Amino acid sequence: MSLNMISSYNDHHRLALKLKPILVGELYLVRKLRHPVYIFKDGLFMNVIPEGSVPTKDQINALIKNLHREVYVYREDLEQIKKNLETALIKVTRSLSVGDALENGNKDLKLLSLSLGSLYQNPHNDELLMLQFQTTQNLTKFLMDNKKHQPYFFHGLAKENFHFTIGQPMLSSILLLSFLQSIHLFHDKEVENLFLASYLKDIGISLIPDMKYDIKTLTIKDKDLFSNHADFSFDLLEGRIPLSKNYLNIIKHHHFLNDRMKGIGDKDFKGNSDNEMIMGLESTLVAVFDILVAMTNDRPYRRGLSLYQSLEVIKKMMADEYPQEFKALVVFLKQFFKN
Ligand SMILES: [Fe+2]
Repeated sequence: MSLNMISSYNDHHRLALKLKPILVGELYLVRKLRHPVYIFKDGLFMNVIPEGSVPTKDQINALIKNLHREVYVYREDLEQIKKNLETALIKVTRSLSVGDALENGNKDLKLLSLSLGSLYQNPHNDELLMLQFQTTQNLTKFLMDNKKHQPYFFHGLAKENFHFTIGQPMLSSILLLSFLQSIHLFHDKEVENLFLASYLKDIGISLIPDMKYDIKTLTIKDKDLFSNHADFSFDLLEGRIPLSKNYLNIIKHHHFLNDRMKGIGDKDFKGNSDNEMIMGLESTLVAVFDILVAMTNDRPYRRGLSLYQSLEVIKKMMADEYPQEFKALVVFLKQFFKN
């Protein structure tokens, strides 16, 4: 890959004003580049893919390998890419049950995640939000109809190596859906709504600056900002999607188990008594799968735990209140991850 540095200070700043970030996977949606693609490295933009070309799989993989999750393109290319992404997502959503289920499911999950990235960049865009909502709604039915392929879809998406802010909501929601389906306690409509709530619960992190995600030591102010993301999600979604207050509240309090754990370790911690009143099995399960996926995955500053180690933590969080469900969870996870 040739790296052409933009050497003049003026040229560099002129360029910075014109470039927009996209997720590197969005390069697959390029038909033909009108301008070069850049990466931002050591304070400079470097040209990595020339204008007039179509990014190849090798070029995209090389960028991912070198940890460039974002690349920079001109607005003209950006608009084309976003349009192509939307068209591709609508197309695969409409024909999910036509043809090869494995291929369709993988493609849908990948495009949906890229589109979630776009929504994070424009959280107030109603069209993008409705596209996410409706596509996810469609996906629920498809996933429920293809129960035996759920582990395949989960691992396929995990392999894409999306940043955890984009990958984790869907990964935890696939597990949630699969578990809910296995315990037969909920109607399909409830499973659908819980899947949607689980998937959309972290949308509030779009209001937190990007560079805060990957650092270990946060200031108290940063920690406050993070702990507010569930409230931000609630505020961003209320009145904009057809999800009832009950499910919006699950979103608003989806970190209640983390808070409860903090409360156990910290005598001075004042738990929110409101939380205790409304938290039922649904909220617990949404929170548990979120924590499970977070704990078992690596972060830039720590290694992920094993499934067994994570279950030890989850046991402390839910086993007293829901002993039967915890047992069912252990059996379910063993089955889901048996290969
Ligand atoms: Fe969250």
